Amino acid sequence: MKVAVVGTGYVGLVTAVGLAKLGNEVIGVDKDINKIDMLGKGKLPIYEPGLNELFLSVLEEGKLDFSTDIGAAVRNSDVIFICVGTPSLDDGTADLSQVEEVARTVSENLDGYKLIVEKSTVPVNTARWIKRTIELYNKGKRVDFDVASNPEFLREGKAVYDFFHPDRIVIGVDSKRAENMLLELYAPVNAKILVTDIPTAELIKHASNSFLAMKISFINMISDLCDKTGADVKMVADGMGLDSRIGRAFLDAGLGYGGSCFPKDTRALFRIGEGYHLDFELLKVVDRINLKRIEKFIDKLKDALWVLKDKVVAVWGLSFKPDTDDIREAPSIKIIKELLKEDAHLRLYDPKAMENMKRLFPPDERVEYVDDMYSAVDGAHALLVVAEWGEFKDADLSRVASLMKTPVVVDGRNIFEPGEMAKYGIFYCGMGRGKSV
Ligand SMILES: NC(=O)c1ccc[n+]([C@@H]2O[C@H](COP(=O)([O-])OP(=O)(O)OC[C@H]3O[C@@H](n4cnc5c(N)ncnc54)[C@H](O)[C@@H]3O)[C@@H](O)[C@H]2O)c1
Repeated sequence: MKVAVVGTGYVGLVTAVGLAKLGNEVIGVDKDINKIDMLGKGKLPIYEPGLNELFLSVLEEGKLDFSTDIGAAVRNSDVIFICVGTPSLDDGTADLSQVEEVARTVSENLDGYKLIVEKSTVPVNTARWIKRTIELYNKGKRVDFDVASNPEFLREGKAVYDFFHPDRIVIGVDSKRAENMLLELYAPVNAKILVTDIPTAELIKHASNSFLAMKISFINMISDLCDKTGADVKMVADGMGLDSRIGRAFLDAGLGYGGSCFPKDTRALFRIGEGYHLDFELLKVVDRINLKRIEKFIDKLKDALWVLKDKVVAVWGLSFKPDTDDIREAPSIKIIKELLKEDAHLRLYDPKAMENMKRLFPPDERVEYVDDMYSAVDGAHALLVVAEWGEFKDADLSRVASLMKTPVVVDGRNIFEPGEMAKYGIFYCGMGRGKSV
């Protein structure tokens, strides 16, 4: 099939490369000229494990092309995937202006039947607005088209795996033609396919993300109680997770959720509920618990070091989670801001996200970026574990302890065991693991 993917960000790129690998002729389009320039030169603007190899292979096979000409891409395609951003407005409502802009462009370039697929995360009933917009700007020309919802569930850091091995593919349609086209497109992927109406598919995405965010905030709430009572949140989570009705996933206490999806999607769903006069207060509390994580984490550091002014604080992990360079809504950003307010000296390290972070916090006399995790702790008064990259879990702890000026580790992701840290003489503080500093 001839496919246009509009928006070549984290979702669009993986979708474009994945669909090209499945044998389709794909054109990735974006209004960001620099991105398209880079992609045209065979360079990826993002880091995602395994994506580069696949990207280069589909380029070589001639299955993938890039352009800024969205109109031409629409005219030359049978299926158009909308993968643009849907960020939060100040009040938490989803900003759909990028989606609307794409709908207008599609409308102005409809020259025959097209299937327009929402892959961006959008509020329930957005497809209706897309349809209306296309009809409105098409000035009554009777061109046939369908709109479908195909929400994306990929996890950054595992996106390539998730494209080819998703837990499920959700297809929301209101015509047999659209359903058949999407079933054909995904036929080579071995996954459970759930076909629903369009509003249901749209809502599955927001409900899934908000539910996962709720699980994280729930265990963080319990984690705070563990800190007060001496219970161990990891064991509590293990004990809960053994119950097949609960499951262990997303019960890791720590710094809470970040990234470009959970915070915005939880707030958006709250606003959607409110728009229908429904009590979605639960999601507000989920968000509030999450926002408090940073304060609690910094308090733990202060408990250990007392005064932070002029202390050298090493930070391991800047991305919002491991295996990505994405720093959108990363806890590290708030932590860095707080530490700078306290006049600490920061030594920052991340395997992939340092270039992105340098744009937010350029290096200066207070903010230093280093090339490896051991340089970060050399002479440091404390180490903060902020994202749980695999290499940190395998760190040589005796080397860490001997390099540090004062061996204090505040572990925001519970990657280390308190008993193990004590063996190296490290003053260790995890999240919900009882006080040990
Ligand atoms: N990142 C994730 O892990 C993830 C997972 C599932 C769903 N989603 C959803 O997918 C959507 C995209 O997320 P993302 O992380 O890929 O965003 P992103 O910001 O990385 O990419 C969006 C891209 O769209 C482009 N764009 C914006 N307006 C455009 C227009 N009018 N025409 C052409 N291009 C345009 C931007 O330049 C950008 O490159 C969002 O709705 C998000 O909630 C994201």
